[in-house]
Amino acid sequence: MSKFMEWVDARFPATKMWEDHLSKYYAPKNFNFFYFFGSLALLVLVNQILTGVWLTMSYTPSAEEAFASVEYIMRDVEYGWILRLMHSTGASAFFVVVYLHMFRGLLYGSYQKPRELVWIFGMLIYLMLMAEAFMGYLLPWGQMSYWGAQVIISLFGAIPVIGDDLTQWIRGDYLISGITLNRFFALHVVALPIVILGLVVLHILALHEVGSNNPDGVDIKKKKDENGIPLDGIPFHPYYTVKDIVGVVVFLFVFCFVIFFFPEMGGYFLEKPNFEAANPFKTPEHIAPVWYFTPFYAILRAVPDKLMGVIAMGAAIAVLFVLPWLDRSPVKSMRYKGWLSKVWLLVFCVSFVILGVLGVLAPTPGRTLLSQVCTVLYFAYFLLMPFYTKLEKTKPVPERVTG
Ligand code: HEM
Repeated sequence: MSKFMEWVDARFPATKMWEDHLSKYYAPKNFNFFYFFGSLALLVLVNQILTGVWLTMSYTPSAEEAFASVEYIMRDVEYGWILRLMHSTGASAFFVVVYLHMFRGLLYGSYQKPRELVWIFGMLIYLMLMAEAFMGYLLPWGQMSYWGAQVIISLFGAIPVIGDDLTQWIRGDYLISGITLNRFFALHVVALPIVILGLVVLHILALHEVGSNNPDGVDIKKKKDENGIPLDGIPFHPYYTVKDIVGVVVFLFVFCFVIFFFPEMGGYFLEKPNFEAANPFKTPEHIAPVWYFTPFYAILRAVPDKLMGVIAMGAAIAVLFVLPWLDRSPVKSMRYKGWLSKVWLLVFCVSFVILGVLGVLAPTPGRTLLSQVCTVLYFAYFLLMPFYTKLEKTKPVPERVTG
């Protein structure tokens, strides 16, 4: 084996890559619960790609046959039902995992210097993931697929001058049709997965260049032993590869439980109108996007003017990109930040969840008012950050991680 590896290593950096990224990548020894979600995101990504490839084998991307081909997968294709449910549940699981992964970033200041690029690549992944999920949702060609896409694509029509041409260009037709379905299929199955995979590689390369942050926000590279190994670092393999198995097992338990007992999750993972084939002549009574988009949908609806709503929704995502430059705190982790940062993070999370709930419900005047308040709080968290992180008193950060 070693002779073989010598032969390979003389031609390809296999051992070097193994050491740089696993056996000699020193990660802080105090990773906690929140550090499971990076590897879980990788697991879900692999699940989506594998189940997606097998679904593609039996799915037909045409307006006439798409809906029936999904029924065929669910009823006639051997193990088709489980492939489909792994993929649809996987989509929601992806967002659960990624939202918790991002929350960890907010909690421990992982986006701060020198990890700005790790964060930016992460945000690009998030953006591409949203596009991927949106396009995938059109493929079953159900009522909600059709009308959800109709609502979102028509938003581009609010853009002055080019709006109408742009919506037509996206659809490839005067209305959502088989042509739209074909192009969404190509993007969902080929283009976006390649982009997402490439971004994930960049994300991890950028992280391994600077090293992982940790719940204390302490830079472990400052204290090294005589061999140059961080005193508070442990090799990623075997320590975290084994620890991550615990996260994977717990995750798979929950994942299987959902697939086998609650695959529709009360209409949140698979919406009820989508069990009916798309009908361009019948608008569903209530159109709501899937749960992971609803906070942004609520922001869109909170603003009375359509164009301003679209801008607010775009800004809600765009502002996350500049987060590393909004936080002026001398410390990274919430453990050592002042109470203002803690309160604002709480306000932000509560607003985000309330917006998510409001985005599912039909609007009433009271709900619209609440969504406006939450939208203001959502933006205030970011826009006031340069001030409260500078003003507040922070606690001293320990020299070494606290375990
Ligand atoms: C397909 C989606 C994603 C995958 C597979 C992924 C993967 C990973 C992995 C494996 C790590 C190292 C382990 C860990 O720290 O948990 C990591 C770290 C990180 N990720 Fe992601 N990620 C994804 C999306 C995102 C998104 C959307 C963001 C934020 C916008 C993000 C921000 C970060 C940050 C800031 C770190 C460094 C955390 C630290 O060192 O404390 N990631 N990611």
